[in-house]
Amino acid sequence: DTPLRDLAAAKGKVIGTAVTGSKLTGTYGDLAGAQFNSLTPGNAMKWGSVEPTQGSFNWTEADQIVAFAQAHNQQVRGHTLVWHNQNPGWLTNGTWTAAQLGSLLQNHIATEVGRYKGKITAWDVVNEPFNEDGTYRSDLWYDTLGADYIANALTWAHAADPAAKLYINDYNVEGVDAKSTALYNLVKDLKGRGVPIDGVGLQAHLILGQVPSSLQQNIQRFADLGVDVSITELDVRMALPADSTKLAQQAADYKSVLNACVAVTRCAGVTVWGFTDSDSWVPSTFPGYGAATPYDENYVPKPAYHAIAEALGGT
Ligand code: G3I
Repeated sequence: DTPLRDLAAAKGKVIGTAVTGSKLTGTYGDLAGAQFNSLTPGNAMKWGSVEPTQGSFNWTEADQIVAFAQAHNQQVRGHTLVWHNQNPGWLTNGTWTAAQLGSLLQNHIATEVGRYKGKITAWDVVNEPFNEDGTYRSDLWYDTLGADYIANALTWAHAADPAAKLYINDYNVEGVDAKSTALYNLVKDLKGRGVPIDGVGLQAHLILGQVPSSLQQNIQRFADLGVDVSITELDVRMALPADSTKLAQQAADYKSVLNACVAVTRCAGVTVWGFTDSDSWVPSTFPGYGAATPYDENYVPKPAYHAIAEALGGT
């Protein structure tokens, strides 16, 4: 079979996967290198990973993933600079004025984006800023800095690496609804103000049989605003155990998502959130659910793998 990355390249698309650095050897490393043209560190670039103690940095896993990607001629999607989750304890337990917190955030972005300048194709600068109803999420950033933290984070990231594509990334924004419309209005406002925003990431943590019917229309409306769109964290979870009926539905779901991206020129591509069921966040977060990725625990390609290949023009 033609590797997914060759099929994607022929269509000018990205096919990526989230990875865990420590696993990039043996079969896991072989498949990550051979099948994908983009890697996203699943956890390694989050603030809590890179600066567990204030002023004391651990870049080991992030550096390893970037080096692996370069050795395999792959893009890297940086994930993520500003989030409400997986922040270091010293940051979340501290008491900060707005000036102090803004300066911590600016330094964090300058340090991390600067370290990888020229090596990151796209950054998920801001992750998950919205509630389901489209209001801003109440978190460390919004509560202390107000909505301007988003524009400032983008501006600081652009200063540190002017060539990197800068994204806002969120979940449950795949279809046209209140949350995705809030994201749409934010992007429109940012572009109108000249803030550097290049794209939106639709995470796409989906449930079996529930691909939103307005997915392509939603991608298209962002494209029409003048930004790129990436599917950044695709997986399709099912109640365990998997069976052939569920796996066939999952393949259809993967194909719908890939087809929607292929249909819109400004959809840069699709990243799966782990390519094997042995490296997926789903079972520990949703007990009784899993089998969400294109390969099973033993690295055997599932129907979903073949569906991705077909959507990218393979057989
Ligand atoms: O590293 C520690 C390890 O030392 C410890 O022994 C172990 C015991 O629980 O925990 C390990 O940390 C875990 C970490 O993943 C690394 O494996 C955390 O408990 C666990 O909560 C964490 O989960 C990550 C999750 O984000 C946190 O919200 C997942 O791996 C990661 O795939 C997931 O990714 C997010 C995206 O960043 C944003 N969008 C949603 C997506 C899924 O939640």
